[in-house]
Amino acid sequence: MRVLITGADGQVGRELVDVFAGHDVVAAGHQDLDVTARDEVLGAITGLRPDAVVHAAAWTAVDACESDPERAWQTNAVAVRHVAEAARRVGAHLTSFSTDYVFDGTKTGPYVEWDAPAPRSVYGASKLGGERELAGDPDATVVRISWVCGQHGSNMVKTILRLAAQPGSLSFVDDQRGRPTFAADAAAAVHRLVVDRRPGLFHVTNQGEVTWYEFARAVLDASGGDPGRVQPIATTELVPPRPAPRPANSVLDTAALRLSDLPELPHYRESLDRLIVQLGAAT
Ligand SMILES: NC(=O)c1ccc[n+]([C@@H]2O[C@H](COP(=O)([O-])OP(=O)(O)OC[C@H]3O[C@@H](n4cnc5c(N)ncnc54)[C@H](OP(=O)(O)O)[C@@H]3O)[C@@H](O)[C@H]2O)c1
Repeated sequence: MRVLITGADGQVGRELVDVFAGHDVVAAGHQDLDVTARDEVLGAITGLRPDAVVHAAAWTAVDACESDPERAWQTNAVAVRHVAEAARRVGAHLTSFSTDYVFDGTKTGPYVEWDAPAPRSVYGASKLGGERELAGDPDATVVRISWVCGQHGSNMVKTILRLAAQPGSLSFVDDQRGRPTFAADAAAAVHRLVVDRRPGLFHVTNQGEVTWYEFARAVLDASGGDPGRVQPIATTELVPPRPAPRPANSVLDTAALRLSDLPELPHYRESLDRLIVQLGAAT
């Protein structure tokens, strides 16, 4: 199977390149393929004629999106239109990523794939726009992930470890609840969906829900530190305040995987322990 991966230098993209290694992989980073350029996208995909496209390119700077909505729409919604147009021309299956930030966070309990989205941020709205480009496409899959962590790129596990290396206490919000997604686990799940050409919308996150405060405590615990150093704060206490509002509850239930008899991802603590070892942060 020939697989084109866009955003191949990103946090998820790099794990995808690893997990598809047994296939004929074409890894396109930002400098190789600008997904907002329709001609470039059509040229690349009709030239390569991949069997599958895994579209991991996106503008993920949630706060910066608030001040440049045009760039957010272009990168996170219009680019999906271009990639979908090209994939349809060559009959390639397309998988694209979306986010828990499509929800407003007011639901009590986890969100399933069939809950109505209502994004609160420009980033969330632009990613929902990308989802809608693929709605009803029989050869497209949308994978919503959340709170992504992994070996590559910057993420909260690395941030927490960096802060923990300094003396003093650490403050993390205790009023935003979600599910971590370890990029390697998500990539493995996406591999299964792509090989099966399973269409539709899937939540793909690790098991176990936490607030950022609880997650920071887990990171300290897993790395042999003292979880008691982490203090809970409210989002309103963040200095400086974040421009993009976040949902208070963005726990994603991986219901479509479970109800399709597909394996759900491991509990986050198992994957966190593995990542801590990979990062050389275990004591
Ligand atoms: N990270 C999270 O917590 C999270 C949560 C939910 C959903 N997601 C979604 O998961 C997917 C993968 O995210 P990620 O965590 O891997 O993000 P990432 O590390 O920021 O990777 C995204 C990649 O896309 C590239 N890119 C940006 N604009 C592009 C363009 N116009 N053309 C081609 N490439 C472009 C970026 O390159 P540059 O660095 O050069 O800009 C970067 O390498 C995205 O769809 C994201 O929205 C992520």
